[in-house]
Amino acid sequence: MTTRTTPSALGTLPFAGHAPRMLRDPLRFLSSLPAQGDLVDIQLGTMKVTVVCDRELTRQLLLADDICDKGGPWYDRIRETIGNGLVTCPHHVHRRQRRLIQPSFHPSRLPGYARTMVSRATAVSDGWHDGQVIDVPPLMLTLSMRALLQNLFSSALDPQTAQDAIDDLRTILRAIHRRTMLPPALNRLPTVGNRRYHAAGQRLRRNLQTVIAGQRQAGKDYGDLLSAMLSARDTADDGSESALADAEISDQLITFFAAGSETMANILSWTLYLLSRHPEIEQRLHAEVDSVLAGSSPACLDDLDRLPFLNRVMRETLRLYPPVWMVTREVTAETTLSGHAIPAGSAIMLSPYLLHRQSDVYPDPERFDPDRWDSAHCPQPPRHAFIPFGLGPRKCIGDQYGMALAALALATFSSRWQLSALSDAEVRPVAHTSLTPAALRLRAIERPLHPLPRR
Ligand code: HEM
Repeated sequence: MTTRTTPSALGTLPFAGHAPRMLRDPLRFLSSLPAQGDLVDIQLGTMKVTVVCDRELTRQLLLADDICDKGGPWYDRIRETIGNGLVTCPHHVHRRQRRLIQPSFHPSRLPGYARTMVSRATAVSDGWHDGQVIDVPPLMLTLSMRALLQNLFSSALDPQTAQDAIDDLRTILRAIHRRTMLPPALNRLPTVGNRRYHAAGQRLRRNLQTVIAGQRQAGKDYGDLLSAMLSARDTADDGSESALADAEISDQLITFFAAGSETMANILSWTLYLLSRHPEIEQRLHAEVDSVLAGSSPACLDDLDRLPFLNRVMRETLRLYPPVWMVTREVTAETTLSGHAIPAGSAIMLSPYLLHRQSDVYPDPERFDPDRWDSAHCPQPPRHAFIPFGLGPRKCIGDQYGMALAALALATFSSRWQLSALSDAEVRPVAHTSLTPAALRLRAIERPLHPLPRR
């Protein structure tokens, strides 16, 4: 069979290739590629990366995790930072890890995790005063981190250790993007940033080790993610049983933080941003929340079934601003994709951001329109055209946790506050490891109470 050559993206520069465009404005650059083909090669310095612009090819690659694996220089560097946990581990160890971690996210544990989020979000909302200007992204990051920390370790952390863990994680999260972009030699220089990053990593792992050892010795189920990981057992095909070792658990805990805190914070920040720019949608959301929460009771997991509009608002936000805007893979065995030969060792980039803006599936794709998710009135997109949590065996393990807890935080804020824009200026997304609002300040305006009876 004859195979075709993958086209190279336009606008390459000598030596640097497309790296300057990719670094300056990756979303704009990526958005220019679908017009050039289903598969387009870009050159990032010396590295060639094939960008997949078609949803069917994206689906095929994400399902074939044996030959489209988590490998290559990007994963090598991210492993140095967050270890070899579920997000970064290669295919040959993934299934065992996934089986051992799945019980931590069992639906029966979700109500407990949800209560933590609601009490944390209520504390945030109680701390606001009428007219206060809120710096949204850092506040949502603190909220997501604190809720996650409590759900990981229940009450095992004293306040100082919890604060240290949050500070260390912030330092590590800030460093991830820089360290995966810079050449390894620069990461080894004894700069202030590199020293701070190493010190944060060492202190965090020391603290995690103490908590893991303490909880292992206690041998109790505290209802948290760590208890579930400590008691998980896996039976291999040969009948041998294994459990997660302390070092593996430590990698998983850091992985959950890296994968779960910024993503949740960003989905909350973007939702608040979009609501502030669409008052008519915000009013409909407030009306729904008022009728379900009756203006006083804290939200709980069961309420989410009665908040369909809130759910649509969040889905539409995930469509427009998928926190994980791109993922990368390495092809480990030569393969053919839509007539193009892809040699072993090729680096692949797949992008939820690109797929979520395909106008054949999403008419007027830039428009914030939660009603497009109303299945009674609009044809729904094919499942693989909406992939904010990925697809296939490597799909997000925290998808229900993330969606439910973010929805409950939003319901909690909306039941009491309107968060309004300070100006008409559009907020720019910054595409680092996660898609973050460049800056977002909103004014909290206290809403009149709605003394409707709870349904
Ligand atoms: C709204 C929030 C979230 C979004 C948008 C999101 C998105 C994603 C995406 C797109 C992937 C697939 C990455 C790939 O294919 O390379 C993924 C994987 C993963 N996510 Fe999430 N995530 C979110 C929340 C969370 C939370 C809260 C946790 C944990 C507490 C979490 C833990 C993970 C893990 C462990 C994986 C790797 C799964 C595997 O390979 O088996 N995520 N996430």
